Amino acid sequence: MLIDTYGRVATDLRVSLTDRCNLRCTYCMPEEGLQWLAKPDLLTDDEIVRLIGIAVTELGVTEVRFTGGEPLLRPGLVGIVERCAALTPRPQMSLTTNGIGLQRTAQALRDAGLDRVNVSLDTLRPEVFQALTRRKRHDDVLRGLDAARTAGLTPVKVNTVLMPGLNDDEAPDLLAWALENDYELRFIEQMPLDAQHGWKRDGMITAGDILTSLRTRFTLTTEGEDERGSAPAERWLVDGGPARVGVIASVTRPFCRACDRTRLTADGQVRTCLFAREESDLRGALRSGAADEEIARLWRLAMWGKKAGSGLDDPSFLQPDRPMSAIGG
Ligand code: 5AD
Ligand code: SF4
Repeated sequence: MLIDTYGRVATDLRVSLTDRCNLRCTYCMPEEGLQWLAKPDLLTDDEIVRLIGIAVTELGVTEVRFTGGEPLLRPGLVGIVERCAALTPRPQMSLTTNGIGLQRTAQALRDAGLDRVNVSLDTLRPEVFQALTRRKRHDDVLRGLDAARTAGLTPVKVNTVLMPGLNDDEAPDLLAWALENDYELRFIEQMPLDAQHGWKRDGMITAGDILTSLRTRFTLTTEGEDERGSAPAERWLVDGGPARVGVIASVTRPFCRACDRTRLTADGQVRTCLFAREESDLRGALRSGAADEEIARLWRLAMWGKKAGSGLDDPSFLQPDRPMSAIGG
């Protein structure tokens, strides 16, 4: 079990498969991209499958989420999913993607055993998409979403970040569109994880703002605190349900008390939190021939040191050294 000193148990593993991306979302990275990890520093497919195997069979992990950067850029993705689907017990598997290229791979991923996808999409307007991501790929994302639904990677969830002056007027339109297309929409408050350190608390669109905006067109009713469990999204029934919308108030109402996550970076470091300032190296142990039990011990030790919270609400908050794309979303 991966337990920490606050009694939380991590059962949800986020695995970053690459730090690279084919978009340049302004809240994530600069126009020119970042200094990518060098190939020899990345875990190999075999190393990833081995670590996930240890997490699932020895450490009580039940859910695996593949992230990036953009995980569809990892050539071995389908094979990794297939091998993880063969583990006992079989973990739940999902993928967080920007949707580009999903049109081509959705069915293969489903066949390999992937259960679900979360696709990031912040706007319905192609020109705003280009302003937000610095790429003209809006159509690819829409096609990827469609392919995911057709392949049965459901419920297809859509993650949206609202940015002041760009897409903050789109919340009701996005929800209407999601309802029509059978996607489950979740808004995420912008977090200070961009490589450029451009985040400002003052400017950000809060969960409160989002709910106010949605209520101009929809009736939202709460499902109650009990049903939230460890899910970071607070979910609301839309016009009486059954459709729902989620709001992840990572900054204004953090969910750290119920956090059940552990993270593995593309270069084999365990992180206890997106906002952690320390990492624990598993790659070194792997490559020096450590046995599974030793790796499991190092992972447990890392999680034991997990801090109570993200520290976002503390005035002395310091942004982590690595940006979100290098940690895994
Ligand atoms: N704040 C909030 N969400 C972010 N994402 C990327 N960077 C940030 C940030 N700074 C989102 C992406 C994607 C998910 C992995 O996280 O849009 O949906
Ligand atoms: Fe790529 Fe996601 Fe970062 Fe956008 S937010 S640049 S899609 S990793």
